[in-house]
Amino acid sequence: MKDALTIRSFAEMKKTGRKIVTVTAYDATFAQLCEAAGVDIVLVGDSLGMVIQGHPNTLPVTLDQMVYHTRIVSRGLGRAFLVMDLPFHSVPVSMESATAAAIRALAEGNAQAVKVEGATSHVLQLVSHLSSHGIPVMGHVGLIPQSIHQMGGFRIQGKTREAGARVLEDARRLEEAGAFSVVLEAIPHALAAEITGALSIPTIGIGAGPHCDGQVLVSYDLLGLNETYCPRFVKKYAQLAEIAKQALGDYASEVREGTFPPADERGGKLPPAQTPKPEKP
Ligand code: KIV
Repeated sequence: MKDALTIRSFAEMKKTGRKIVTVTAYDATFAQLCEAAGVDIVLVGDSLGMVIQGHPNTLPVTLDQMVYHTRIVSRGLGRAFLVMDLPFHSVPVSMESATAAAIRALAEGNAQAVKVEGATSHVLQLVSHLSSHGIPVMGHVGLIPQSIHQMGGFRIQGKTREAGARVLEDARRLEEAGAFSVVLEAIPHALAAEITGALSIPTIGIGAGPHCDGQVLVSYDLLGLNETYCPRFVKKYAQLAEIAKQALGDYASEVREGTFPPADERGGKLPPAQTPKPEKP
């Protein structure tokens, strides 16, 4: 196995210009696929509320659910760096609840960092508190889905000069507070380029153009698994929903026709016994 990545690796990548590849995952099987593909950062995003749980937004996701998914993702990883989103339920309540949530992310979920949305004074204080106590924090500015009701929907942010300056200022403040990287979501490409040039920590873009230090996509979107909603900036690298529907349909037909399982013994062999992997501490 290659050496595990750390926040120092990402600072180095910013310096050398090597792009940081980030993808979301929600279970061990997907985590193993990300690991095999050489993904650098695996994010257990609260997007799981939409792609796994079928909610219209990320707000209903609980801390217990985030910790559970982070823990199972961690079992599939070796080299990749694991980040857990702090859910809506934990951050606005109080510094204590947000800090306790971050501690659970690392201690129970095996995450190596947490991600927080926005740059309010409360969030900046939290970033500073966590990073000075050994908990790396990834920031997130531009479109911040946990504030969907205040933003009036999933809309591009930072389109005017003033709004762009505010996004830049938010990103700067997160860096000053101690964030090790910052996600730039749904902002104009030129603004993302300006922020990337202005910060010494890496920027990870989503719908923010090619000039960021890295990119992140929701795995279900990039694999074409999500047929209900897909943002315009997503490139589908596969059409897995089509393949899955075809395979499930073939299976259903064969079961109904009685051609699966086959009558001869060859199809009926049991796989060799598997020894379960030991739990990560
Ligand atoms: O929740 C999530 O998956 C995210 C990424 C899309 C950045 O925040």
